[in-house]
Amino acid sequence: MTARRPRLLDRHRPAPAALREELAAGLLAETPRISPKFLYDQLGSRLFAAITELDAYYPTRTEAAIFAARAGEIAAAAGTGCTLVDLGAGDCAKAASLFPALRPARYVAVDIAVDFLVESLDYLQFRHPAMDITGLGCDFSSRLELPPEIGPGPRLLFYPGSSIGNFSPDDAVAFLRQARAASQGGGLLIGFDLVKATAVLDRAYDDELGVTAAFNRNLLNVVNRQLGADFRVADFRHVAFFDAAASRIEMHLEARADLVVRWPGGERRLAAGQRIHTENSYKYTIDGAGRLLAAAGFGETHWWTDDADWFALFWAAA
Ligand code: AVJ
Repeated sequence: MTARRPRLLDRHRPAPAALREELAAGLLAETPRISPKFLYDQLGSRLFAAITELDAYYPTRTEAAIFAARAGEIAAAAGTGCTLVDLGAGDCAKAASLFPALRPARYVAVDIAVDFLVESLDYLQFRHPAMDITGLGCDFSSRLELPPEIGPGPRLLFYPGSSIGNFSPDDAVAFLRQARAASQGGGLLIGFDLVKATAVLDRAYDDELGVTAAFNRNLLNVVNRQLGADFRVADFRHVAFFDAAASRIEMHLEARADLVVRWPGGERRLAAGQRIHTENSYKYTIDGAGRLLAAAGFGETHWWTDDADWFALFWAAA
């Protein structure tokens, strides 16, 4: 008898030419920008994993503590035996921590980096031989659509880590509408990072070890590879701060001197002090998160927080 293997599906992965166009358009914009989705090359994914180990970066461990303390209540709200669809699964550790409570019949791990998924899924399949496990490679940031191969019936979509914070509130509603449709009458389990003291937020995105700075600056290596650009990482400084009016962390890369960046077919001049905007991370209140889910058409919700009210986990029925 041969061991069961996870199934792999590769869908909606943008062509390199489309990615180059997107990068060039961002660099040529009046306020230059690079999408945070480019942060996660192999080194970037490892640097993000290192960020989640930092004392300064509270979201991952705070959310994990909510999962651990509330697993029974989460399962009571969301139901057991479901098809669990993990959006941005990475190493699948968060979903796996809920397996004992949720006992999913099927697990679908979705990520842009399908190669990174394979190892985690092989191990998960070994640990859970009866589970129907699929890896789905797709970029769902612009359009979320799940292929019929993952099976019929309601789905529990899992979107932890406060990744929703990368969208503007309007784009978040549009994304959540697609998530609601993709759940086929199921539900959504989603993490929101909450508004808190500015000093706590600022430190989480500008840690004293410089891991977040390395994560942000590594983006320039990704652009050099994808676009053939000639950024010199040393010419840029990591800048991150909480903008209370917009309720978001902003990350930027600031030019240390007047410089020119060139790539095949284009160039951009930057003055000393000029910034490339690389990420927004919106912070919500409990009410604000509830309003976002309601605006996307979700019905009944339940939510759980930690003792300090730093992070919230919501379950919402389609
Ligand atoms: C993966 C989007 C949830 O916004 O906190 C961490 C990314 N950026 N440190 C976040 C991130 C800088 C993270 N998300």
